[in-house]
Amino acid sequence: MKSVVILISGRGSNMRSIVEAGVPARICAVISNRPDAAGLDYAREHGIPTAVVDHTAFADRAAFDAALSAEIDRHAPDLVVLAGFMRILTPEFVDRYRARMINIHPSLLPAFTGLHTHRRAIEAGCKVAGVTVHFVTGELDGGPIIAQTAVPVLPHDSEATLAARVLAQEHVLYPDVVRWFATGRLSLRDGRAVLADDDTPAGGALRVPGADV
Ligand code: GRF
Repeated sequence: MKSVVILISGRGSNMRSIVEAGVPARICAVISNRPDAAGLDYAREHGIPTAVVDHTAFADRAAFDAALSAEIDRHAPDLVVLAGFMRILTPEFVDRYRARMINIHPSLLPAFTGLHTHRRAIEAGCKVAGVTVHFVTGELDGGPIIAQTAVPVLPHDSEATLAARVLAQEHVLYPDVVRWFATGRLSLRDGRAVLADDDTPAGGALRVPGADV
């Protein structure tokens, strides 16, 4: 069975969705850069080993990343899952986990990298928002896209109502992607995410709830 380390910084609802989906993988640790991340409590309550690598305790990004990768590597994971992990990573760190580190971002990338994605989508007048899961590369919220779910932006949406609609889809999509990796179907080939043995028209990796794809 493949092993997974999940990195969080806060609430940890995506981490929780992966745990609760019962993906066929061993969640060997949940690691946070913030000691007060609420998601740590959930992991502890569910018997998952936790660790904190507090970024404020390190002189610079490189020192933090070195300590973080030492903690990750203790578990020798097949996959590193970033689930609301709010740190920019050094190129060395990213290289170390190339093709085995994934991230979830609450927009339809490459639109709206960075923060405040929902507010920016509403301000831009977008009619469609969504969520993206991608392999992590050195580019912030860049990297080969694995799967996306489109979510409508409704006329009276606030940042909060849109965020909630997108988050509900994050909790469906991320466990599915982790399952694909865990079962050996997902890989990175020539810079593109490849999903093997897929017989759905859109490759299983495009979701438009309510549409027949
Ligand atoms: C999610 O919206 C995720 O897409 C983004 O950060 C948020 C984390 O939420 N990267 P949670 O901690 O998983 O609840």
